[in-house]
Amino acid sequence: MITINVPLGERSYDVVVGPGARHALASLVPAGVKRVAVVTQPGIPAEIDPGVEHRVFEIGAGEEHKSLATVEQLCRSFAAWGLTRADCVVGVGGGLVTDVAGFAAASYHRGLPVVHVSTTLLGMIDAAIGGKTGVNLPEGKNLVGAFWQPSGVVCDTDLLATLPPREWACGQGEMAKYHFLTGDDLQSMALPQRIARCVEIKAAIVGDDERESGRRALLNYGHTLAHALEIANRFDLRHGEAVAVGLVYAAELAHHLGRIDAARVADHRRVVSDYRLSADLPAGSDAEELVTLMMRDKKALRGLTFVLDGPQGVEVVTDVDRSAVLDALATMGTS
Ligand SMILES: NC(=O)c1ccc[n+]([C@@H]2O[C@H](COP(=O)([O-])OP(=O)(O)OC[C@H]3O[C@@H](n4cnc5c(N)ncnc54)[C@H](O)[C@@H]3O)[C@@H](O)[C@H]2O)c1
Ligand SMILES: [Zn+2]
Repeated sequence: MITINVPLGERSYDVVVGPGARHALASLVPAGVKRVAVVTQPGIPAEIDPGVEHRVFEIGAGEEHKSLATVEQLCRSFAAWGLTRADCVVGVGGGLVTDVAGFAAASYHRGLPVVHVSTTLLGMIDAAIGGKTGVNLPEGKNLVGAFWQPSGVVCDTDLLATLPPREWACGQGEMAKYHFLTGDDLQSMALPQRIARCVEIKAAIVGDDERESGRRALLNYGHTLAHALEIANRFDLRHGEAVAVGLVYAAELAHHLGRIDAARVADHRRVVSDYRLSADLPAGSDAEELVTLMMRDKKALRGLTFVLDGPQGVEVVTDVDRSAVLDALATMGTS
């Protein structure tokens, strides 16, 4: 078992990673908690024991259930059970469950502690770590939310045994990103160690910049094009799959701008292909449309903004030349 601390002063917490990590749950529930509301989805394979009296509250699967209506339903169920601020919420599931459970915990009685038991690869290396919680509106994803750090996180790699192949692919797209955020050779690591290292990388960045005013933006490596592909919304691409394409694109763009050499671009292509993900733009992609969408990226500070690799590692680069952006798009394969 590997324990990683997310360093946030008095809000610091531990993330326990490895096979059987779920047995550490009771030790992560804050001392003195009397009852636990377990929030999960049907079909999530987690028999968990928070060590105190608990009740299970199920929410629906699919982004349409990541809504204020679901949060209202949960909070009403908490109230009906008589949950108080002396109690605790435990989210057991992927990023959808932990985002919703975290937001319900942040809001109900103005804030209850929450512990996450993450059951997807994407959740373990990304969604469950760092304290971003929230729900979607019909107008857009994750538009209502709060920063609410958990009291602890469990990443039990045994629970990944039932993860569907497409969910693996999504998690691996996000994992590919971490290969380039530090000099680590993630490829040589066994899965639990690799997940733990991704958690550690994210924890260090979040510890530095909890509310995304600086370094936390580096976690958006590969995401500028990925978001544009997702918003264009004509492609059957999930987030992690779009990030894989976006990573290779970011490498091609950095190469175009003279920031990295061809061998480094090849490293990006190799990591993505080792995870059996496509680096191609989906057939029917319209370069002009993608550039327009990238200009509107909510993370864009000035002009076309990208996180790009370079001699000093990855960094945020603003005002990237539109013609370089188009030229790099033209180097991408299509399928
Ligand atoms: N808070 C953050 O920082 C952050 C970061 C990244 C993503 N997110 C959010 O996370 C969500 C995506 O998370 P996700 O990719 O984990 O998807 P998800 O939570 O929707 O889970 C995908 C599917 O897998 C099922 N599932 C989960 N664990 C399983 C298991 N062990 N075995 C079998 N089936 C299982 C779920 O029931 C669901 O149907 C999005 O809503 C996204 O906005 C949040
Ligand atoms: Zn992402």
